[in-house]
Amino acid sequence: MENIQNFIDKLFLGDSLTVLNQIPEDSIDIVLTDPPYFLDKLDNSWDLSKVHNRNNQQVIKSLPAGMKFDSMQGRDFYDWFLGISQQVYRILKPGGFFFSFSSPRLFHRLCSAIDDAGFEIRDSFIWLYTQNQPKAMSLNHFIDKLEIDNEEKAILKYKLDGWKTPQLKSCYEPIAMGQKPTDGTYLSNVIKHNVGLFNSTVTVGKNMFPSNVLSIDPLGESIDRVFLLPKPSIKEKGKTNDHLTVKPLAICEHLIKLSAMSPNSIVLDPFLGSGTTVVAAKSLGHHYIGIEINEKYLELARQRLSTLDQQNQPDLF
Ligand SMILES: C[S@@+](CC[C@H](N)C(=O)[O-])C[C@H]1O[C@@H](n2cnc3c(N)ncnc32)[C@H](O)[C@@H]1O
Repeated sequence: MENIQNFIDKLFLGDSLTVLNQIPEDSIDIVLTDPPYFLDKLDNSWDLSKVHNRNNQQVIKSLPAGMKFDSMQGRDFYDWFLGISQQVYRILKPGGFFFSFSSPRLFHRLCSAIDDAGFEIRDSFIWLYTQNQPKAMSLNHFIDKLEIDNEEKAILKYKLDGWKTPQLKSCYEPIAMGQKPTDGTYLSNVIKHNVGLFNSTVTVGKNMFPSNVLSIDPLGESIDRVFLLPKPSIKEKGKTNDHLTVKPLAICEHLIKLSAMSPNSIVLDPFLGSGTTVVAAKSLGHHYIGIEINEKYLELARQRLSTLDQQNQPDLF
């Protein structure tokens, strides 16, 4: 097993299980990640070229990414994510937190995998938002293909007017929060490992105690007062970032601030994407480790980290 110093403040190109396997046990303070969701075309080998071309929605050649329903998706995801969660469990310090974004459809499988790996599911967050495209489809396209005459088609279309496939407009993403069991009491764990508690002075909205609902879009005065996080800056993603599922920096920063007890905690993301977790960790002064299988995305993360370095350069004049 290698020394943790060989991993700190580095990004690794490769399969996360392979890299996680090499990280020493009980060495990481926080794992914050956003794994592939295992919805169709978004499994652990997804890349932009495989995802449906979003500009071509007029002609339905195949269902857009994430829309095909298959009950095996959840089972396959569970089997794969259990292996990941077991490695995450091994490398986290006792009392360390494992935060993982998920999809409303497969959240139950994600939590079961985290739970079965040995974590205590302490709570879950909901990231609320209002802007998303409804994914439900009308069946008109399929009616057109039926071998019936036009009048029958028109009657069927009239009957099904307004009826669509059962997909809601998605307005939240769940975030699981598992904790590796503490080494003795909370107090003895903190004295020994300096992790395991939440910082209640990290407030949300108008100075409110941190809750399990988060939003970065203003939703309404009373809701904003309790749940609103600072609005993310327009330039936070980087100009060339075309990753499909970039997470808000404000949410990643918030989760790290809540749970990082040491000023130089080690924050790891095994599914780095364009690097939001590591950018959040670094901008808060913590150490980071990132793993990403796709070279193009790893490069996006590198660019975002170096932009952060440039922003932090002292003004010479
Ligand atoms: C949902 S995205 C993460 C997006 C990220 N949170 C951001 O803000 O940009 C998941 C990432 O996991 C990567 N990935 C998929 N399978 C992987 C594997 N086995 N090992 C490492 N990375 C993997 C994908 O290439 C993708 O970039």
